[in-house]
Amino acid sequence: MTVDPASWPPAPLSTDRLVLRASQARDRPAFVELFSSPEVGVHVGGARPREELERGMPEVPGQRPGVFVAELDGAMIGMITLDPRDAQRPGHVRPDGGEAELGYLFLPRSWGRGYASEACRAVLGWFAATRPGEPVVLTTRTANDRSVRVATKLGFAEAGRFEEYGAEQWFAVWTPPAPPA
Ligand SMILES: CC(C)(COP(=O)(O)OP(=O)(O)OC[C@H]1O[C@@H](n2cnc3c(N)ncnc32)[C@H](O)[C@@H]1OP(=O)(O)O)[C@@H](O)C(=O)NCCC(=O)NCCS
Repeated sequence: MTVDPASWPPAPLSTDRLVLRASQARDRPAFVELFSSPEVGVHVGGARPREELERGMPEVPGQRPGVFVAELDGAMIGMITLDPRDAQRPGHVRPDGGEAELGYLFLPRSWGRGYASEACRAVLGWFAATRPGEPVVLTTRTANDRSVRVATKLGFAEAGRFEEYGAEQWFAVWTPPAPPA
């Protein structure tokens, strides 16, 4: 198990500039913007048509354990996910798969300010506190420089590369800090 549904959602996490919390109905327009953004889509399998999202997106999008909305000054600027990595896909540190996998998507107007790293650091800290000793994995296209930079800053170490979705993927692992003696 990655994120225990019984203890979801946690109390909101606060960083210097952001709040990380479960999604709410008022985030819907930002989710539509995020998934229809061509700048975001180019890295994650393509943007989706805005009209399709407006029509089909649930009233409260992203309502599942492991989805954090990153909020700046009261408005959503991105999302962070912790999902179990499918055992059938390549890229694992455990023989039976299902490791917690970190994902992050931010609105392009918020890029270049350190918000994604700040938000991910808080989510990793929360994860390490709730599931002590468990590693977190991450997969991103090798060509996605910004994403590889974020992961490296967070302390992810490359653990392999493979082809998936027609591109080389960078697979990396984050090992939680040892608890104080
Ligand atoms: C990947 C993604 C989240 C990275 O966003 P980002 O804003 O570049 O990442 P960070 O939050 O780490 O910000 C880093 C930049 O902020 C700058 N910065 C400015 N003020 C800062 C501050 N106070 N603190 C830290 N960094 C700051 C850094 O210098 C750095 O700039 P650089 O990229 O020119 O070196 C974003 O590009 C994105 O959403 N991409 C589309 C989705 C995607 O590719 N997801 C990955 C697949 S899992």
